[in-house]
Amino acid sequence: MKLFDPHGFGNSAISYAGLLEKIEILRSMLRWAPKLERADIEKLLNQANVLRDEVMQLSRKERFVEAAAAAPEALDAAGGADGMDAAETADASPSARRRRQALIERSFVFEGIFGDNPKLLAALEIAEKAAPTDLPVLIDGESGTGKELMAKVIHANGLRADRPYISVNCGAIPDNLLESELFGHRRGAFTGAANDRKGKFESAHTGTIFLDEIGELPLSGQVKLLRVLEAHEIQRVGSDEPIAVDTRIVAATNRNLRQMSEEGRFREDLFYRLSVIHLTLPALRERRDEIPLLLAYFGDEAAGALKRRPLKTTPKLRDFLLTYAYPGNIRELRNLIYRLSCLAGDVADVEHLPDDIRPKQGASSASSLPAVPGPSDAEPPGRPMTLSDAKRAASDEAERAFLERGLQETGGTVAELARRYEMNRSHLQMLLKKHGIRSKSFRHQDGATTDKDE
Ligand SMILES: Nc1ncnc2c1ncn2[C@@H]1O[C@H](COP(=O)(O)OP(=O)(O)OP(=O)(O)O)[C@@H](O)[C@H]1O
Ligand SMILES: [Mg+2]
Repeated sequence: MKLFDPHGFGNSAISYAGLLEKIEILRSMLRWAPKLERADIEKLLNQANVLRDEVMQLSRKERFVEAAAAAPEALDAAGGADGMDAAETADASPSARRRRQALIERSFVFEGIFGDNPKLLAALEIAEKAAPTDLPVLIDGESGTGKELMAKVIHANGLRADRPYISVNCGAIPDNLLESELFGHRRGAFTGAANDRKGKFESAHTGTIFLDEIGELPLSGQVKLLRVLEAHEIQRVGSDEPIAVDTRIVAATNRNLRQMSEEGRFREDLFYRLSVIHLTLPALRERRDEIPLLLAYFGDEAAGALKRRPLKTTPKLRDFLLTYAYPGNIRELRNLIYRLSCLAGDVADVEHLPDDIRPKQGASSASSLPAVPGPSDAEPPGRPMTLSDAKRAASDEAERAFLERGLQETGGTVAELARRYEMNRSHLQMLLKKHGIRSKSFRHQDGATTDKDE
């Protein structure tokens, strides 16, 4: 029984028309097959699973487009108590909304990247311009900020979208196998090389190669990579024959490659070759206004994956989720939501949080973060301050300083502060409440400023 080409089946760009065509093929196969062998049934089930995944991906994209298109007023009106509702995501500034809408109208493929923070939008706009070229792109940013996702976005928006996308984790390959992994080998080239083998570069021919964790590549590997980038050809280990490769390079790292190259730990020439287009993804703490959107998105995703109703949260937990520092960025937020969705019943509370980040007993919901330890602050007996506590305290202090400075600059006008930093006003109000800061006390004495926020 002949089924789909498994490579063609899952790889092409996903569209409704494509999905319908695949469903039609499955249907006619089932209708006309005289009998199904066990192997055929397994293949059919596999392909049904691929179809299911594609439908899910498409629906996520649709959801994003809808969220982007909806006017914030309409979203506000939709309400949503303490559920992780997209209603609370109505916080994009007008210019952010316009920029995101413009990307959508230009048929930009988001590949599930959510968000309308100006820094993220700037990165997406650079990605959009870089995608159709063959210029190398270097993506950096802290762990969990979406570097891998961004690499897929660049591939999906480029002219090679239906060609191979090959991902290599440079940090996970032992040094002695690196060359063979990247460039392949001839049979007998070394002990254990029983057959000729293609490397990742050859597999990515005509497509894109994603070199993840490029900062972990040893200096010897860096020299070889540089040669390939210059000559556009590789040699398999144990062979003198050059093989031409046409691959688009996207690399990612959570290290500071410029600094590494200054310190001699990364080749400077390779750094410049890789970073013709340089994209830095913002940490989640620099785009806190997006947290409600991400909570809603991953809440839905987890509900789907775990086959449960979307998670509801107590106000205390919600307060925590909106103000936590997320050192592991979007990955940490996503994992947290999956954990809560799995462990909680109908309503999740702070008790369902992992021990190391759970606010201490007795902390009020409005200040679930630990107080900043001053010189006179003795540690509570029994539990020394953990690294996470320290990070949260530092982030809390920075947040307070930012708010106070902002209010000083804007004469206590929250609306102006929100406009200036493209933040959601109600989110700002919530932060002020959390820190017990009263915008009124920053108002000019002459009473010239009028702020209707309070
Ligand atoms: N803007 C975003 N919208 C939706 N999901 C996102 C976004 N950014 C990241 N994610 C999700 O967060 C998780 C981590 O993303 P990804 O693996 O791309 O991060 P990374 O920067 O490569 O991390 P690391 O440096 O640890 O490898 C993934 O599940 C990804 O789908
Ligand atoms: Mg990664």
